[in-house]
Amino acid sequence: MAAIEVEKLSKTFRVPEKDEGLWGSVKALFHRRFRNTTAVSEVSFSIEEGELVGFLGANGAGKTTTLKMLSGLLHPTEGRASVLGHVPWRREAEFQKRFSLVMGYRSQLWWEIPAQETFRLNQEIYEIPEAEYRRNLDELVDLLDLSDCLSVPVKKLSLGQRMKAELAAAILHKPKLLLLDEPTLGLDVVMQKRLRLFILDYNKRNNATVLLTSHNMEDVVELCRRILIIDHGKLLYDGPLRQVVEKYAPLKVIRVDFREAVSAADLEPVGRVTESSELRAVVEVPRAEVSARAAKLLSKFPVSDLTIDETPIQDVVRRIFASGET
Ligand SMILES: Nc1ncnc2c1ncn2[C@@H]1O[C@H](COP(=O)(O)OP(=O)(O)O)[C@@H](O)[C@H]1O
Ligand SMILES: [Mg+2]
Repeated sequence: MAAIEVEKLSKTFRVPEKDEGLWGSVKALFHRRFRNTTAVSEVSFSIEEGELVGFLGANGAGKTTTLKMLSGLLHPTEGRASVLGHVPWRREAEFQKRFSLVMGYRSQLWWEIPAQETFRLNQEIYEIPEAEYRRNLDELVDLLDLSDCLSVPVKKLSLGQRMKAELAAAILHKPKLLLLDEPTLGLDVVMQKRLRLFILDYNKRNNATVLLTSHNMEDVVELCRRILIIDHGKLLYDGPLRQVVEKYAPLKVIRVDFREAVSAADLEPVGRVTESSELRAVVEVPRAEVSARAAKLLSKFPVSDLTIDETPIQDVVRRIFASGET
């Protein structure tokens, strides 16, 4: 049985409309007008148990709205969904115990109290037996290196520490499905990497299904073999990540700082120079050769700093859209 099955799922929001200025506000008091915006439009897909799927799209494409419907926070305008065999918006207790929705930008932890007290609360809510709770908590504290964060009020944690505590709170009851909305937003690269490894590990160990949205191509490239791309509410692509990356994101970008001036012409053998001033340069190189080219830079030039970036997701989406191929 598929973990998630979605058929022609749509969500239209009815939003109040008002004319500009004071007169517009006064008129709106007496005569409210509404306008419909379609956030999600006839989206269909199916995800098998144990799959780790990336859900991509530009800002406002409809990702969060879809995840909210899958977790039963929103009722769809039309369409069908079956998640772990449940209709999510019926919000059955059994269903609530088997999945978790984590939003990187919105805390589910209580701000004023230490994370461990929120964990206790979740133990009650999810009715986790004490022995199992202990075991899961110990494992999470270990895997996420949380021991220093547990007894500090959440508001005093760094964003990275908070996200780890956030994930721990969401995972204590060992859900079979994780819906992750921008889990690495705002985190530094080391912490992003750490969270990615954790997500991968959780998926493998528990054969848990993971559906993850991200603005960060790196997240997707490292975690997902399959992606869904949504644009203006419509599903644009559903398939292997590899083909999309090879075709629409064949290059990586190396940003480099120099200790002494280097001319753009000297950098040509490394790759295509897209930006260059005396002490900085940006060079595009083929994905498969990024390590070799970076090594070349480091050995031949007075490099003081170097970073390697992924193609931004919105560029990938734009290219797919522009190709008219989907
Ligand atoms: N509660 C709401 N009321 C009205 N419009 C909304 C609401 N939530 C989202 N939208 C609109 O729906 C569209 C999709 O939003 P969202 O699902 O948040 O996109 P994403 O997560 O991909 O950035 C956007 O145009 C957004 O403005
Ligand atoms: Mg969103």
